[in-house]
This record gives sequence, C-alpha cells and structure tokens, in this order.
Amino acid sequence: MRSIPHHVTDDATKASHGENNPQQQPRDAQLTEPEYGVGAAPLYNSRWMSKATVLVVDDEQLIRWSLVERLSQDGYRTFEAETGAEALAQLSEGIDLVLLDYRLPDTDGLKVLKEVRRRDPDTLVILLTAFSNVATVVEIMKEGAYHYATKPFNLDEIALLVEKALETTRLRREVRALRATQAEPWGIDRIVGNSPVMQQIKDLLVKVAASPASTVLLTGESGTGKDLAAKVIHYGSKRATQPFMNITCSALTDTLLESELFGHERGAFTDARQQKRGLLESADGGSVFLDEIGEMAAGLQAKLLRFLEEKTFKRVGGAQDIHVDVRIIAATNKILEDSVKNGTFREDLYYRLDVLPVRLPPLRERAADITVLAKYYIDQFNHEFRKQVQGAAPRVFEALERYPWPGNVRELRNAVERAMLLAEGDTLALEDFPMLGSRPEMSEGVQLAAGGMNLEKLERDLVAQALERTQWNQTRAAALLGLNRDQIRYRIEKFDLSKPEPAGH
Ligand SMILES: Nc1ncnc2c1ncn2[C@@H]1O[C@H](COP(=O)(O)OP(=O)(O)OP(=O)(O)O)[C@@H](O)[C@H]1O
Ligand SMILES: [Mg+2]
Repeated sequence: MRSIPHHVTDDATKASHGENNPQQQPRDAQLTEPEYGVGAAPLYNSRWMSKATVLVVDDEQLIRWSLVERLSQDGYRTFEAETGAEALAQLSEGIDLVLLDYRLPDTDGLKVLKEVRRRDPDTLVILLTAFSNVATVVEIMKEGAYHYATKPFNLDEIALLVEKALETTRLRREVRALRATQAEPWGIDRIVGNSPVMQQIKDLLVKVAASPASTVLLTGESGTGKDLAAKVIHYGSKRATQPFMNITCSALTDTLLESELFGHERGAFTDARQQKRGLLESADGGSVFLDEIGEMAAGLQAKLLRFLEEKTFKRVGGAQDIHVDVRIIAATNKILEDSVKNGTFREDLYYRLDVLPVRLPPLRERAADITVLAKYYIDQFNHEFRKQVQGAAPRVFEALERYPWPGNVRELRNAVERAMLLAEGDTLALEDFPMLGSRPEMSEGVQLAAGGMNLEKLERDLVAQALERTQWNQTRAAALLGLNRDQIRYRIEKFDLSKPEPAGH
C-alpha cells in the first residue's frame, strides 16, 4: 500500500499520482496508449451479427458471377454493380466491403473509391486492376484502398483478402464500441461540486467539449481537477471514440518530448533505428492532453505553435508535412502570463492557447463544494475498502470547509482516504484529520486591510500574542508560529518585547 501523506505538500501530491479511482490508468508511464478496453467481452453490433456484405463492381459479367458465386459460398451477402453509378447507388445498403474494378464504363475506379471513402470511411475497398503499374498502385493506396489485386486473379487469394479485410472492419468496430463504453465513466457527472462557480465550469466544459475548437487551455493549481477536466472534454466530444493520448511535458527531456509528440524518421538521431509515429499521428481524430505545458522548451513551443496554426508538422528528421486532426488540451498550474513576462513562454503560443481558457478554481474559493466532495469520497472509499462509515459530525465538515486545502481536491481526497483507513468508529472525527488540528489559524487567513497594513507591526503583534498565550514559553510560542527557538528569540529582541512583571510586584 502506498504511504499516506500527513500534510500534503506539492511534492507529496505529485508523488501520489497513482491515486484516483480504479478506472484511471496508472500514471507511472507518462505516455498512455489509446484507451482500449483490453480484456472486456467482445461487442458485436447488430449489422455485424448478420452476414457481412460485399459489393462486387465490374462491367464483365463473368467476373462478377465468379466472385459472387464464391463469396456467397463463403457466407457473405453479396451485391453486384456494373457501373460506378450503380455501385454508389447500392452503398446505402450498408456495404462492408467493395471489390472494385479499376476500369469502369462510366468512370474510373479511383473516383468511385474516393466517393465510397467519403461517404463511409469504414467501408473497405479492394481494387481490381488489369495491370500492375506501380504509379497506379501507389495512387490507389494513397486514396485509402485496403488492398488491390491484379487480374487475372486467383479466387482463393481474393477470398483470403476479403476475409482479412472484413476482420479488420470487425475489429475496428469492436474497438469503437469498447471505447464508447469506456467513455461513460468520464461523463460530466464525474466532476463533483454544485457551487455556482463549479456549475459554471461544468456548463463551460460541456460547451467546450461539443465545440469544434482545436485547442483548450486548462489552468488551475495542483489538484484542482485539470486531468479530470481533460478526460471529460475528450469523452464528451465527438472525438470520444478516437484515441485520448496524454503526455507530461516536464517528464521528458526536450528531444524525447519532441520525438514522442511529433515522431521521427529513421536515422533522425543516434537511437532512431526505426521510423516512429508520434502521439499526434497516433491520436488522429482524437485528443492529445499536453500536461504541464508551461514546462515546454522554447524550441518545441515554436513547433507546437506552427502545428496549432497550420495543423501540419514534420517528424523529427523528416521533410514531409503531415496533416492530422487532433484537439490539443493543454494544462498548466503555472500562471502563464508570468511565464510570458519572464520570457520562458512564447507570447504568441500563449495567445493561441488562451482562445478557450478554462480556469479551475482552487478549492478554498468554493468552500461550498468541500462537504459534497468529502461525502463523495467517503462513499467511494466505503466501496473500495469495504467499510461502512456513515459520515462525520457536522463540526468536522465545518472544520474541513474552513481549512484552506493548498493541495486542493487531491489533498481532500487523500485526507478522507487516510481518515477512513484510520477511523475507529463508524463516523469520522476531527482527530482523524490531523491537518485540521495542527494549524487552525491557517484557515482564517489574514486579510489585507483595504487601506493596507504594516507588516512589521503585524508580525510584532503575532509574536507578542503567541508569547502571551504560552505564558512566555518560548518553545511553545515558536511552535505556534512555525518558528524555531532561535528565530523567536531573534524577534523578541528585534521587537524589544519583554515578559510582563507578575501583577502586584
Ligand atoms: N471536481 C472534482 N470532482 C471529483 N473529483 C475531483 C474533482 N477535482 C479533482 N478531482 C480529483 O482530484 C484528484 C486530482 O485531480 P487532477 O489530477 O485532475 O488534478 P490536476 O489539476 O491535474 O493536478 P496537477 O496540476 O497536480 O496535475 C483526482 O483524483 C481527481 O479525480
Ligand atoms: Mg494533472
């Protein structure tokens, strides 16, 4: 079991990244593969449960006849067309695969191929050509044909090709169906909190997800839910059935990050023995979550900006422009304006990303959500730890609401988890939340007065109060202020404080 942080600091929150609910992938590997539901039961859609459909398009009757004859024997539902126009007219039948002659009386196979692919990219096409001309084959494959066969062909070979092609279709649909079921845990309801500000954020996230926007910027302190929001955006969008890939910019060296993101050509650098597709290519049609974008090196920022503006990029060491359709969801817990001012973040990239910003507010700005979240986590851990904790006393929730939660929702979640593990009874008590007892003053915070205030005087007053409260026990007074004995002695001298004489002397 992992250790439980007592007082969550930034480092501790980072170290406990494996937290979160059971559905989430572990984050040790900073790169996640597209989220296939490995091991789940296969799903078949109703069209697939019926026979697969094959359309044979050829103007030669004998060829049509022999293909149809064979494919029907193999158990497929077959359709025939003599011309390109007839073929397109039959597509509405829900065709899985088209065997398409390259030379047709009314048009050429390439045009029909394009139209088939345009109408339904899921329909596979195998082109039949009378000659094997390299240029033609390249062109055919570039337009997205599944394969080609040269005439005269061997029927067994064609049958095998058809079988393989339809297996591809089946797998593709299965993955899509699985992804759709995977998407559900990331519905907007996963974001807990009904404070007015959270309500607004949820409405905004739903809108952003549905929008065609190609970039989104999530900002907010550590633990405010940026990862969660990124998943909600992806799985709430039309891209949900396509990959969601994530990469943490600070976790990799500049060169590694570049090649992970954009891919590389063989020989681009010493270790590049193979050509490699980057995350952007693998996520085509889906979303890439660029976490901690504020840590990205300047050179890469420029390359990313070009991609955001032109939707194209080059692999490392490559000359060819590659076009992909990917939504970039960027996140940072830095104030990017400051990074722009101090020159570590490109201004133009900042403005490009800031078109659609979503700021996740710190938990202390929405105290109304704290109790709701705490109860949500009590339920969750009851389930996970097979416990039956009933809740907590009202004063516990009040204290939780007053605490400033520097580690935000993550810290609250960890605090509830810890309390649930250690709780003796079936309700949580104040003692189960050590951070509430240790520094009660923090919850009040100090408000800067409208007309400003004198920091020296404030410090002097606080030191004096601490000494008074502890009857001048310097060690205890120091502890109340988070100081050591030397530090409080220094201040006693500096502020010229002295122990009051006992009354009556
Ligand atoms: N509104 C919320 N409702 C439910 N759970 C939340 C909410 N906000 C955050 N969480 C949970 O809190 C934990 C931290 O959230 P998340 O990892 O998304 O934070 P983050 O903003 O990405 O932090 P960091 O900047 O450290 O990466 C996760 O377990 C997440 O599921
Ligand atoms: Mg995060």
